[in-house]
Amino acid sequence: MEKQVKGPGRPGKNLASVVVGVLAFIVAGAMIGAHARPAQLQPANVGTAVQTAAQKYKNIQVLKDIPADQLIPSMQFITAALGVECEFCHVASPAGKLEFDKDDKDEKKTAREMMQMMFAINQNNFDGKRGVTCNTCHRGSPHPQAIPAIMAEAAKPPAMEAMHDHEHDMDPAKLPSGAPLFTKYIQALGGQAALDKVSSRVEKGNALMPEGQPIPIDIYTKAPDERVSVMHTPKGDSVTAYNGQAGWIAFPGRPLREMSAPDQEAAKLDAEAFYPTQLEHEFAELKLQEHPEKVGQHEASVVIGLTRGQPPVKFYFDQTSGLLLRIVHYADTPLGLNPTQLDFADYRAAGGVTTPYRWTIARPSGSFTIQIDQVEQNVPIDDAKFVKPAEAPAPK
Ligand code: HEC
Ligand code: HEC
Repeated sequence: MEKQVKGPGRPGKNLASVVVGVLAFIVAGAMIGAHARPAQLQPANVGTAVQTAAQKYKNIQVLKDIPADQLIPSMQFITAALGVECEFCHVASPAGKLEFDKDDKDEKKTAREMMQMMFAINQNNFDGKRGVTCNTCHRGSPHPQAIPAIMAEAAKPPAMEAMHDHEHDMDPAKLPSGAPLFTKYIQALGGQAALDKVSSRVEKGNALMPEGQPIPIDIYTKAPDERVSVMHTPKGDSVTAYNGQAGWIAFPGRPLREMSAPDQEAAKLDAEAFYPTQLEHEFAELKLQEHPEKVGQHEASVVIGLTRGQPPVKFYFDQTSGLLLRIVHYADTPLGLNPTQLDFADYRAAGGVTTPYRWTIARPSGSFTIQIDQVEQNVPIDDAKFVKPAEAPAPK
């Protein structure tokens, strides 16, 4: 793979981008709500006034009619599928700022043709369904391999996206209910009654990046779905917040960013994972996958949460302890699904319930871990923390 320059949308590379990645992991990686079908490329809600990519951005020729807030997730998808950085297709100004609307690079023009090709393949061969994506051919490289590789080493474990592949032949109607696994999980955490007594939590620990120093983090949560994380970065405090209605991200020296509706759906899911009595009610159906899967050393039962028109969410429960080991969810973009994997570990007793002290968030662009050292429950939290700050006035 060619060596590429660093880019803003790819966490895991330098501290600043990692930090943005941590704060924006929900925004960048995980959308549960929106669903633009690839072949038709219709805005998600026909009839309501959804701003299209062509209306919001300057130079959109192929992805014109997709909802504007699907454009960046689509870019993240192709960046992951090709294993490159944004700079692979986009030119930088002499000052180093990326000028996304410019067409100076052949790679960008090729990418447009590739999108057209992909839609045509799907239209002509897969009834307009997303049978083939950029990743089907590229698999993390700009140069797809036409020649089969010689298997000189033992087979590698399947990648995250490969795990999704075999859901094609899944017929949910035939699968048993996954609800009993949620019941067992709630019991493993201490039971419904004990969980109901926890109304707030303050957690202190560190965000552990692949490189560099740990970054101290404070997490304030209120049941069932309010959650504010404050990271004390060398540049100042960074905040990622969801208060049940609105989500926002504040990074030192940058204007406050509001989460889009689908990002908020994902933020809600992630917040609920820590007050899990609501979790199972987020889905129309819960199905138990036929075959268990391994998470590290643990044999896990896999429950698939299904809601019509939305990508599935997969829950991996430890067959022995009943505890939740992993959640995998997908951001639906017009070009393909962006996976996010959340692994929970280091479960400990805290005030009558059991809660994870460590979790790892992984996406194709990289991963990071939050390690909690201290948990306080049912302590008062200043309501102001859950109020969205007024947006800074635009610079004149
Ligand atoms: C493989 C090539 C490729 C990569 C990598 C890529 N893009 Fe793009 N980008 C495109 C193409 C092609 C378009 C135009 C799409 C169209 O015409 O429908 C585009 C358009 C855009 C636009 C709209 C600009 C405007 O005003 O018209 C933005 C913003 C953007 N990309 C951001 C990003 C970001 C951020 C990344 C990195 C996460 C990225 N892109 C990575 C190919 C790429
Ligand atoms: C059916 C297989 C297939 C699909 C699907 C596919 N590509 Fe490609 N792509 C190729 C092949 C083959 C090449 C030529 C590779 C080479 O030059 O080594 C290529 C080349 C490219 C290049 C030029 C790379 C370079 O180094 O100049 C870009 C950019 C690209 N593809 C983007 C995309 C994007 C974005 C998508 C999804 C919208 C996509 N491709 C989907 C097969 C595919």
